[in-house]
Amino acid sequence: MPPLPTVVVTGGAGFIGSHTVDRLMETGHRVVVLDNFSTGKRSNLARWAGDPALDIVTCDITNGIFAALAPLTKLHGPVERIVHLAAQVSVVHSVANPHVDMTVNYGGTLHVLEYARAHHVKKVVFASSAAVYGDVTQLPVAEETACQPVSPYGIDKLASELALDYYANVHGVPTTALRFFNVFGPRQDPSSPYSGVISIFTDRARAGKPLTIFGDGSQTRDFVFVGDVVRGIVAALGDGNSRMIANVGTGNEISVGELARTIVDLCGGKSTLEHAPPRAGEILKSRARVDRLRDALGVVAQTSLVDGLRATLA
Ligand SMILES: NC(=O)c1ccc[n+]([C@@H]2O[C@H](COP(=O)([O-])OP(=O)(O)OC[C@H]3O[C@@H](n4cnc5c(N)ncnc54)[C@H](O)[C@@H]3O)[C@@H](O)[C@H]2O)c1
Repeated sequence: MPPLPTVVVTGGAGFIGSHTVDRLMETGHRVVVLDNFSTGKRSNLARWAGDPALDIVTCDITNGIFAALAPLTKLHGPVERIVHLAAQVSVVHSVANPHVDMTVNYGGTLHVLEYARAHHVKKVVFASSAAVYGDVTQLPVAEETACQPVSPYGIDKLASELALDYYANVHGVPTTALRFFNVFGPRQDPSSPYSGVISIFTDRARAGKPLTIFGDGSQTRDFVFVGDVVRGIVAALGDGNSRMIANVGTGNEISVGELARTIVDLCGGKSTLEHAPPRAGEILKSRARVDRLRDALGVVAQTSLVDGLRATLA
């Protein structure tokens, strides 16, 4: 039997990463997770415990990935493709610690690209973010929109996209950057105050606790279910679409206030809504144009917000 194609998933113990690992394992890949477990958890991958097709390596991306991968490639052959998700994920944290954000998010991407260049990796798929756009006036926001990030997190994601383009152009490394909008679903960790708003709201609404809305609640987001995001990642991992940047969202937006009321209703209506001052670096309006996701990658988000919320609550 030919060896299974090896896919490396950096940040594979995290929220989006572990769902990506699930899909890759289900479709017959050998998967190597590189993660420092700063926000990721081994329990997210518990379902694959003992499966010889999955290797989990503790690795800080800021130290590079050559040493972490060398023993495994010696055993199983070369890495074919990489999904690069490992990151410092908090916009607020990036405002307070811009150097840390640059080292992990931009520096980590450079380490991944250096490995891909040296080992002739067939595709690098990078988790970029809608944060690269900053505060846009025209919605839905298309990939051609001029990027004006308003946080170090957005700047480092944009710099990473430029690095992907450079490695594709100059070194021939095939790359695709996916600009995720607001991803939600099971396993998103509500324990951090900077975690995804849906995970925090569902966690509190289930317990009947008040929900805190930063600002007046009129800020909008394009919330996309994690299963749909994984379909985008898997499609981008294929050959083709190199040097491409694609939004990953639904093309719909909802205000945070309306989201809060929907979640409270789904949880039986016990929680009250409270307001706190707006947060630094937060964008006001967000909705993806999703034509490229559909036309180039053949992916259309299928899960409605309410269905996704029900799956998250379950
Ligand atoms: N969740 C969203 O709405 C969203 C939106 C846009 C972009 N993204 C991007 O998607 C990716 C995945 O995010 P997520 O929501 O799953 O968050 P997450 O925190 O669950 O996953 C990030 C993973 O990276 C790991 N990690 C962090 N620093 C690391 C380091 N120095 N070395 C190795 N591993 C490290 C963490 O332990 C974790 O497993 C990130 O790049 C994030 O910026 C997420």
